Amino acid sequence: MKRILSGIQPTADSLHLGNYLGAVKQWVELQEGNDAFYCIVDLHALTIETDPAILRRRTLAAAAQLIAIGLDPKKCTLFVQSHLSEHNQLGWIFECITGFGEASRMTQFKDKSAKSGSDRTVVGLFTYPILQAADILLYQANSVPVGEDQRQHIELTRDLAQRFNAKYGPVFTIPDAHIIKSAAKINDLQDPNSKMSKSAASNSGVIDILDSSDVNAKKIKSAVTDTGKDVKFDEKNKPGISNLLTIHSALSGKSITSLENEFAGKGYGDFKGAVAEVVTSFFAPVKARTEELLKDEQSLLSILEEGSAKAREVAAKTLKKTYDALGLVPGSQLKG
Ligand code: TRP
Repeated sequence: MKRILSGIQPTADSLHLGNYLGAVKQWVELQEGNDAFYCIVDLHALTIETDPAILRRRTLAAAAQLIAIGLDPKKCTLFVQSHLSEHNQLGWIFECITGFGEASRMTQFKDKSAKSGSDRTVVGLFTYPILQAADILLYQANSVPVGEDQRQHIELTRDLAQRFNAKYGPVFTIPDAHIIKSAAKINDLQDPNSKMSKSAASNSGVIDILDSSDVNAKKIKSAVTDTGKDVKFDEKNKPGISNLLTIHSALSGKSITSLENEFAGKGYGDFKGAVAEVVTSFFAPVKARTEELLKDEQSLLSILEEGSAKAREVAAKTLKKTYDALGLVPGSQLKG
């Protein structure tokens, strides 16, 4: 079986439709027939200063939503990064074989640090991709399902694994990036030329999974469209309608063409009503299940604890092999 690993940062109270269709939906599919590890990367989230109560809440909410949406802890290993010290331990090793220039070329670091200025940029943002490499390589992952924006980080991960193996012996599996090219590139409802993102200037174009059906229906009904009246897929001239068609199609499973036919001769109002219906009937049960899971925090924590225990079995082995390969004198703390 192929080993899959991916991660998500607990940096929002709710997943949004773009997260779901752009990544999590594929995670759910990939837990069948693969040995899938999914990690809530709370240590990565520390690169953005967050109130402790909020980080805690978001970590649990991320776990609950992932389960509610279809990750089955019996089929996959769902765990929290900070539960395993091995991530930091391996992270340090890779920091010691990463070039300063190499890390400086990461475009995500360049973009984020340019926004906040070098005095306010934390070192953790600089080493972020190296910790990400450790997340992946600890589990000997064959494949890493991520969005296009993570391609460079996976390239770095491969380079580091190859460099280590060449120097110290074959310890790490070289992972492939499995770039999720979902037909569903979901854009902001108010700004249909940009990706739906939690960092959007306004939340009015973002469908949060945990929002009420009323709020989400309203957002869809006030989505920006063009002045025409045909429900036609045309990303260039009709980005708003095309985005809504993509959303409907991804959730209902109907093809874009069949939707165009279904709504031929009907106005945007009818079409938006139908999209709102598809979205809310899809997410209402997910929201209810999430709330149920969050109510029983002890059970949720024990699910995560079991996931961490499974993860540790693999992680500890890899770390032991790594330490041995490096010539670190074995101590009793490494039992892998
Ligand atoms: N950097 C990833 C993101 O922002 C999150 C992440 C951290 C990740 N560690 C990972 C993704 C390991 C895949 C594998 O989306």
